[in-house]
Amino acid sequence: MDVTNLYLCKDNCQFKTLHLRMKKLSFFAICFTTFCAQAQINHFKYNNNKNITVNKAAVVSAHALASDAGLSVMKKGGNAFDAAIATQLALAVVYPGAGNIGGGGFMVAHTSSGKNIALDYRESAPAKATKDMYLDSAKNAVTILSMEGRLASGVPGTVAGLFATLKYAKLPFSTLIEEAINLAEKGFALTKAQAEDFNNSHAVFTRNNKNQVAFVRDAPWKEGDILIQTELANTLKRIRDKGVKGFYEGETAKLIATEMKTGNGIITEADLKNYKVKERVAMQFPYKDYQIITMPLPSSGGIILQQLFKMTAQKNLASFPFHSKESVQLIVEAERRAFADRAEFMGDEDFVKVPVKTLVSDSYLKNRMADYVAGKAGNSSKIQPGQIKESEETTHISITDAEGNAVAVTTTLNDHFGSKTIISGAGFVMNNEMDDFSVKPGVPNMYGAIGNDKNAIAPGKRMLSSMTPTIVLKNNKPFIVVGTPGGTTIPTSVFQSIVNVIDYKLSAIDAVNKPKFHHQWQPDIISVEKDFDKSLKEDLNKMGYKIVERGTIGRTELITITATGNIKSKIKITAVADKRGDDDARGY
Ligand code: GLY
Repeated sequence: MDVTNLYLCKDNCQFKTLHLRMKKLSFFAICFTTFCAQAQINHFKYNNNKNITVNKAAVVSAHALASDAGLSVMKKGGNAFDAAIATQLALAVVYPGAGNIGGGGFMVAHTSSGKNIALDYRESAPAKATKDMYLDSAKNAVTILSMEGRLASGVPGTVAGLFATLKYAKLPFSTLIEEAINLAEKGFALTKAQAEDFNNSHAVFTRNNKNQVAFVRDAPWKEGDILIQTELANTLKRIRDKGVKGFYEGETAKLIATEMKTGNGIITEADLKNYKVKERVAMQFPYKDYQIITMPLPSSGGIILQQLFKMTAQKNLASFPFHSKESVQLIVEAERRAFADRAEFMGDEDFVKVPVKTLVSDSYLKNRMADYVAGKAGNSSKIQPGQIKESEETTHISITDAEGNAVAVTTTLNDHFGSKTIISGAGFVMNNEMDDFSVKPGVPNMYGAIGNDKNAIAPGKRMLSSMTPTIVLKNNKPFIVVGTPGGTTIPTSVFQSIVNVIDYKLSAIDAVNKPKFHHQWQPDIISVEKDFDKSLKEDLNKMGYKIVERGTIGRTELITITATGNIKSKIKITAVADKRGDDDARGY
């Protein structure tokens, strides 16, 4: 009943009775809500929350059952790091196109004690990898080999990353992996999009796998069908029982090495045993009254993000209206320059020298924008062929907890279902991250991104990434937690989502869901989502830009944390799951 109805009760006695009933009702309502909050969602029948407002903790991920796994460990006393581990493990089961244990990722975090963390668990090139391994005898790039099948895989880093995260967590690993094991062993209901996805991938799975895999069956999959992954459940149990060695040594490592030998793969048991997580120094820079914390190399994301903020600030981006021809042109021209630098200068700093300080310095970036002409399209002089394909291969998780920790994790198999090879007997998908190297200078990878020797293949080297898990601080406290999949579109989507909140004062929901656009130097086009404003497209065309409509850009998971009212300690958490997929926000 609405409270206003109380004032309609003229008789005092009636009012008291009603008031008592109301109290009883609210007591039951609280009990019911608490019960619902404690109970885990039904794996066989569940809905998506696209946005929530809560005041303690929130998880946003690509799948409702994964967000729920993260939330439930926080309710058991865990923090945001516990949730990051549980959510990633659950994603490896319920979102096998990108969630993974056969891939790699990055975590950026800001702890309640003020420490910034950047964990690099990116895949690395196997010891037998060589610079020319994807070239034929005439030195032509055979790009299918870096994209599909066993040779496309780098040494996976995710499981090592989870154990490196554990030192910041509170609960035992066995508690954090429990839900993922349950989901794999007992199954869960597929969403409509997942069922379609499996049906569309039938041929590629069959082509790349000798044995039966869980995602392939004769009858078409449909929404609500239950996916059981027994082999994956057994792999997860080995990780639960033996820790990091349950993946990198023993039976799982043997299964990976054997799978490699059934085709042209080169990952060995020694590669797996030698894999190491690297704790990096998080990239931090100011933007207006905020501090941005993001991922350094081997992700290009942090450098690009910093360049975009600095180049657009020079020309006062916020003075132009949201999605006006002036603001879009400014962002596009900054993106053009940042991606040209990515291709020329960036690679794994443990192997090559990258002039990071210069690339993000004010004087360098002032020079970069010196030839910017408002109202006239710039020109990426060396046009290279290349297409930006729509892809949801990577996945992002944003988390905040009641203690004040914020965690942003982006993890990937590279392409959708990675190399399309599932490890026989272990039931998980292997990445095709080798395609993120520059297989030959000037030859575009599957995102149309080009590179040179800086990002050439070498044993143990990590391929250049675009993943940009990011936290924005306001008054030294987490204000925004954000990230997205989308290959090269990742830094531009993260940038646009942040300026949408900070400069354009859009609601968190609009900041995520309004159409996105992207330019990456080569090819020299602005790619826009289908709902990008038509007259704005015409205006940009008149300036000399070529606009290409494409599918969705990214699946951004964004949390904003703000103080409410006069009481500084009372916080309002708004968590938004991108409308572009099955993404889901949960919290309490
Ligand atoms: N595989 C996508 C990225 O790391 O950027």
